[in-house]
Amino acid sequence: MDITLSFSLSILVVLGFSLFSSLLLLRKRASFSPNTPPGSIGWPIVGESIEFGLSGPPKFIKKRMEKFSPDVFKTSLLGEKMAFFCGPKGNKFVFANENKVLASWWPKSASKVLLFTEVINEGQKVVAPLLANSVHDILKPEALKQYVPLMDSMARKHMETEWAPFKEVKVYPLSQKYTFALSCKLFMDEDDEDKVAKVLENFNTVTNGMISMPIDFPGTAYNRAVKGGKVLRDGLMKIISARRKELIEKKEIVRDDILSKMLLVTNENGRLMNEKEISNNIIGLLVASYETSSVAITFVLKHLAENPHIYDQVYEEQMMIAKSKQDELLTWEDVEKMKYSWNVARESIRLAPPGQGAFREALTDFKYAGFTIPKGWKIFWNVNTTHNNPKYFPDPEKFDPSRFEGAGPVPYAFVPFGGGPRMCPGKETLG
Ligand code: HEM
Repeated sequence: MDITLSFSLSILVVLGFSLFSSLLLLRKRASFSPNTPPGSIGWPIVGESIEFGLSGPPKFIKKRMEKFSPDVFKTSLLGEKMAFFCGPKGNKFVFANENKVLASWWPKSASKVLLFTEVINEGQKVVAPLLANSVHDILKPEALKQYVPLMDSMARKHMETEWAPFKEVKVYPLSQKYTFALSCKLFMDEDDEDKVAKVLENFNTVTNGMISMPIDFPGTAYNRAVKGGKVLRDGLMKIISARRKELIEKKEIVRDDILSKMLLVTNENGRLMNEKEISNNIIGLLVASYETSSVAITFVLKHLAENPHIYDQVYEEQMMIAKSKQDELLTWEDVEKMKYSWNVARESIRLAPPGQGAFREALTDFKYAGFTIPKGWKIFWNVNTTHNNPKYFPDPEKFDPSRFEGAGPVPYAFVPFGGGPRMCPGKETLG
């Protein structure tokens, strides 16, 4: 026999054997495959990302909850197998199991844009948290209360210069400008308007591109975000180094901002955070506070404009507080009196939630609602499984702040800020 023919035959035999054994293995695996939640994982690689993007989260979720299960369904997004936990029970499970069977997770493409990924604590399986656990203490309500007068003085100045002189204004960009300026002041004691405006321009490039298709090629939005992220980190590192130097020279905190507090806080391992870790946390704060707050302000104003009878009641409450003061700035005690206004804000956030939810990663195989969630799968809890559901919010399309009076919604149905240990620490700044 010709040597090439015999070689080809041997290859065919080997291929045949390996194909046969692979098929057997696949069958065996299939028979042992865990009982994962019902759902579809869509196309290879893209999964159901396109459908999710086209139909939007509320429709995507409603359809699958009706078709597969009101408790939990599987899908595939961002190249990851994912289980969507639904309803108050699903929310409660996620919030109660933080760092037990679940840990915070962010898509690697977003982390790459924003963070120094080399200092993210992989050891604890916290893949890319927005905020280190220890930094939550700095943002406790008791600590944030002291910033209310500053927020008020900045809001007054902003209204005088950006709103009052004009007959017509665009609410969303102005809200963005205000919240970003406030964040820069609160987080880094930065109030140079030109500098802030420059950082904001770059920041918008970063946040818009980080959620685009993660194709890092010159000319793509993602590529612009990667470059912008580096500029942002370089700028922040300069500020952080200067602050550390200032702290060492003066031997005490001379500024009342979050960055100065971060310089003295220890991380999960009990040591002071290094500059890259601080940069990650400041960026986490900027990302988490900027877009959410500007969207919230914009929709509150939209809902007030559409509901004049509700506007009148908010106006009355606000004027009552204003009249009780001379020219002093607002305090936390004043904010606590704004009960009706807060219910209006909550109803607005229910109907137009600025944050859709958040991801987790399964640290181990676990069971939920009779199904197995395999280790490594991603979990998504999100507001759309309850906020628009007539079971928890009768006549859900109606703007009705009175639903928050008395006992209010059932527990874990109204979750715009999440819950459990990773609950939004910024919740109180809006309360
Ligand atoms: C209406 C405005 C806001 C909404 C709706 C909102 C919503 C959320 C949601 C849904 C989460 C995810 C929680 C989770 O992982 O389960 C979150 C996390 C977070 N928020 Fe907010 N947020 C708002 C404003 C703010 C503000 C003003 C700040 C800063 C002062 C802030 C700082 C954070 C931080 C740092 C996290 C990450 C917490 C962690 O992973 O431990 N947020 N927020």
